[in-house]
Amino acid sequence: MYAQMVKSTGETVVAKEKLSPKEREFQDRIDRGEKIEPKDWMPEEYRKNLIRQIGQHAHSEIVGQLPEGNWITRAPTLERKANLLAKVQDEAGHGLYLYCAAETLGVSRDELFDMLHKGKMKYSSIFNYPTLTWADMGAIGWLVDGAAIMNQVPLQRTSYGPYARAMVRICKEESFHQRQGFQIMLTMAQGTEDQKRMAQDALNRFWYPSLMMFGPSDKDSVHSAQSMAWKIKMNSNDELRQKFVDEIAPQAAFLGLNIPDDDLVWNEKTGHHDYSEPDWDEFFQVISGNGPCNKERLDARKKAWNDGAWVRDGMLAHARKKAMRKVAE
Ligand SMILES: [Fe+2]
Ligand SMILES: [Fe+2]
Repeated sequence: MYAQMVKSTGETVVAKEKLSPKEREFQDRIDRGEKIEPKDWMPEEYRKNLIRQIGQHAHSEIVGQLPEGNWITRAPTLERKANLLAKVQDEAGHGLYLYCAAETLGVSRDELFDMLHKGKMKYSSIFNYPTLTWADMGAIGWLVDGAAIMNQVPLQRTSYGPYARAMVRICKEESFHQRQGFQIMLTMAQGTEDQKRMAQDALNRFWYPSLMMFGPSDKDSVHSAQSMAWKIKMNSNDELRQKFVDEIAPQAAFLGLNIPDDDLVWNEKTGHHDYSEPDWDEFFQVISGNGPCNKERLDARKKAWNDGAWVRDGMLAHARKKAMRKVAE
């Protein structure tokens, strides 16, 4: 999940009879499957939770460009380079749709960036891991974009209109990313011994961090009942994680690669795979800033922001000049 630590401020859902008439009408609209639009009345907590969720998601798209951007100059063929460039560019687009969706809730892009740079807003823990070999481009597309899709497909039905519509477009591109990643893995898994070893090593390193993308286990999960009632969270973390494992396990078998979990086995009774949970201590360390690449990623974002100051200044000056000319006419 790209917004894995979104804390809903409402611990439990307020009973309908305790809601004010306005709040009740709002909840009824959501229950009927209506979309909430920017100018509609909404509870302050709904607005705040959405800003946090969409903001985290937008930041994840932008920071997520960094681990893969690292390999553009070293892609093994011209075709691979063109594909990777297009993918990284898509992620920038996803960030832009999402920042725009967040802005409709009354927060500015400058404020969102400021919160990211000051560490007040998070991005997905997965992007704090390094990309060591070309096979990581395969593993990221296959697993990381795969986990993102798992979470984002249901969000196309989320209650906030601008967010749901952004998701429709994003999901189309994410599924292309996943196929591209799988294709890299397939080529490497069927290649030389060294290539196969690299593919296996990438799977070993990215498996558990990918499972962490869905957020903490439901039993330790921060309050999500209110977010579910508001339809800004559509499934529980464990539900989505299980779906992901069930989808990826046969794909790994097809690739001839081993998922690094000796306890991963098909369970006839449940109709799902049993699997080992990731190391949640590691997850909380990474999310709180102590992952292998947290500092590097945030420094890169701050540098990009500072280096781009002259462009923003120039555009603002141009807009002001244009507005003044209009007044003078
Ligand atoms: Fe994306
Ligand atoms: Fe993607």
